[in-house]
Amino acid sequence: MQIVEMLKMRKKLFFESPYVEQVPKTFRFDEQLIDEAEERLKRFAPYIAKVFERTKELDGLIESPITFYEPNHVYIKRDDQLPISGSIKARGGIYEVLVIAEMIAKQQPEFTHVTNYEAFHQPFWKELFGEYTIVVGSTGNLGLSIGVIGAALGFQVVVHMSHDAKVWKKQLLKKHGVTVIEHVGDYSKAVAQGREEARATATSYFIDDENSKWLFSGYAVAARRLVGQLPKRPTVINPLVVYIPCGVGGGPGGVIYGLKKCFGEAVKCVIVEPIDSPCMFLGIVSRQYDQIEVADIGLTNRTVADGLAVGRASQFVGRIIEPLVDVFATVSDDELMMWVKELHAKRQLFLEPSAVAGFSALQRGKEKWPNGTHLVWATGGGLVPDSEKKNYLADK
Ligand SMILES: Cc1ncc(COP(=O)(O)O)c(C=O)c1O
Repeated sequence: MQIVEMLKMRKKLFFESPYVEQVPKTFRFDEQLIDEAEERLKRFAPYIAKVFERTKELDGLIESPITFYEPNHVYIKRDDQLPISGSIKARGGIYEVLVIAEMIAKQQPEFTHVTNYEAFHQPFWKELFGEYTIVVGSTGNLGLSIGVIGAALGFQVVVHMSHDAKVWKKQLLKKHGVTVIEHVGDYSKAVAQGREEARATATSYFIDDENSKWLFSGYAVAARRLVGQLPKRPTVINPLVVYIPCGVGGGPGGVIYGLKKCFGEAVKCVIVEPIDSPCMFLGIVSRQYDQIEVADIGLTNRTVADGLAVGRASQFVGRIIEPLVDVFATVSDDELMMWVKELHAKRQLFLEPSAVAGFSALQRGKEKWPNGTHLVWATGGGLVPDSEKKNYLADK
């Protein structure tokens, strides 16, 4: 049966991509942008350390640990523990706000006196940034990341949110002084509306989750930093197998790109999407990328995994990661909820539904790469309030 037919049937899939380059050689992204991201994040580290207490121990770097999860004999990349916004979106989202802040600051004569970026904490800069608005469309976590750092720097922030965005995420943003615009439509519509609004004013910057090279670069830095965290360097015989959830594709795309650059054929990448929202899977296997959406094959794009509720993939990421993704997998909502509960029951580890998607492909991955070191990228859940956790964990 054709793979698109199987997607239509909402089956749980583990599809070994015919498009992957076993020895990766096609890298279609400007590596210099990732170098710049690494440098820029270092320049801003003194500011981050000053403003966000939790980042002090890492000298202002926004990074998460990896931990070992005994019951499934797997490493977990704990992006739920990323400071500031508790999800993978803290990587790209915060980074792009820093790009914007630096760009504006550099236009000021006062910038020549800035020797340490801690200075951006001062009222002069906050007032300056306050003249600008950052606009973004989000399913929730990107908006949270941009909202929190944007508000700290003094920007006005407007977040357009899709209908499936969680109420608590909207409330938290409002608490930070962020303007939240709620849409009845899905994520793509929220992004389109934000793009339109930002175009109208010269002092607005739109962070385009469907098309941003800055976001992608911020995510890609994570892979370089992982090199120093692994128990041993992967090899072709003992590969590192990484399982990562995918929404519009920027987060996983950046990470996968960075991983393949660092480890070549010694890393295998599995992306996982909900059975009702497999936009990257569909885009790549149909070779139509962002020109097709899940509704075109009769899928609803409704899922408990709010961060992955995306019907149409990024405008550029699909083409970049096509030669780099080893496996496309899908997962049902029931299985996501099962993993949320199990991880909590066995280790008191709470992850949000989007963040556990990688676990669902683990067994098949272990069968395929029995000599591998397996790592599930847990992409979020750090800021979920206790009342919400109770709802997720309750038996329904
Ligand atoms: C927790 C979580 N995991 C994964 C993703 C997917 O990232 P992307 O949309 O960049 O593919 C998101 C997106 O918001 C998310 O919130």
